[in-house]
Order: sequence, then structure tokens, then C-alpha cells
Amino acid sequence: KKIAVFASGSGSNFQAIHDAVQSGKLRAEIKLLVCDKPGAFVTERARKAGVLVLEFIPKQFASKEEFETMLHEELQKNEVEYIVLAGYMRLIGSVLLENYGKRIINIHPSLLPAFPGMDAVGQAVAAGVKVTGVTIHFVDEGMDTGPIIAQRAVEIQEGDREDEVAQKIHEIEHEFYPETLDRLFEGKR
Ligand code: GRF
Repeated sequence: KKIAVFASGSGSNFQAIHDAVQSGKLRAEIKLLVCDKPGAFVTERARKAGVLVLEFIPKQFASKEEFETMLHEELQKNEVEYIVLAGYMRLIGSVLLENYGKRIINIHPSLLPAFPGMDAVGQAVAAGVKVTGVTIHFVDEGMDTGPIIAQRAVEIQEGDREDEVAQKIHEIEHEFYPETLDRLFEGKR
């Protein structure tokens, strides 16, 4: 499948997806990296990887509809079939939802529906839960709602600091996201 990865930050998941494509573990082609934060580290990773980068500044558009219309045109030009969100810190709006329907996927660092939204790892640690994890799901208009595709649990040990839990979660994500995308693209769920 031809995919676009959307990211706003460091892009370690972008990197894991790219590496899995290179090694043949993920049967897909990254056509485009879309970033709403020009200069974010993920753009450097993408350029090094030889992936086409589309950076944009949302505030320079009159509305979400306008920038999503621009994004949709670029996605079409590049024949993108799936949108893969990897730390894209923005809700997807009606233009992309209408055009990509069930072909937009997100990864979230908790066992949804627990701890949606920002700082899911911090929320889990503050709540004192003993198990948290990672969820991969289809995107709908809500914040981290939408049908769940797959989940992995991560245990929180007594005394674990937030950064230690975040680290464990990232390690799982880097295996779990490419693997789940491959299954999905091959028609298995
Ligand atoms: C990941 O933890 C992902 O679950 C969340 O945002 C984070 C992105 O990290 N949606 P990175 O930019 O891929 O390192």
C-alpha cells in the first residue's frame, strides 16, 4: 500500500515504519511525510531517508478545511491510499475523514478508552494503574476514539518513573506499529 505518515514531533515511529519498509517487514511504500510543525526532528529523519516532506503551518490557512483540502490534493497527487498518524498532534477534520474514511490509522500510548488525549503516559502514571499500553485504531472525528485494531499491554512496576514507562511504550510501538500495519494491509486484522 502507498502511505503518507503524518507526524508533529521527534518521529521515532516514522523511523520505525521507514526501517520496517526498508527491511521488507512492512509491505508498503512511504510516499510522503506530512508535518504541521516545520523544523520538527521528524522532517530531518524523512529527508535523510529520502522521503518527500510536506511541511505546512496550519495558522497560515483560514480553516482546517482549507489546509486539509491542500493536503488532500497532495495525497491524491502521490496516490496515497492510507494515512498513518504517528504523533500527529491535531484532530483530523471532515475533509480527510470524508475522503479517507477507514483508511486513517493512529497509534496512542495507552489502552484506550483509558487516558485519551495529551500526555497519556503521564495520566496513567498519575492514576497509579499497574497496566497501560499501546492502542492502534482507526481514526474518527473524536479524540483517540474510533474502532480499535490492536492493543499491547505494558506493565508499570512499583517506582517506575514516567520517562521509564514512556521508554518501554516507545520500544513496543516501534515493533507493534509496523507489524500491525502490515497485517492490516495484507487484509488480516
Ligand atoms: C507516540 O508515543 C505515539 O503513541 C503518540 O505520539 C508519540 C509519537 O512519538 N501518538 P514519536 O514522535 O514517534 O517518537
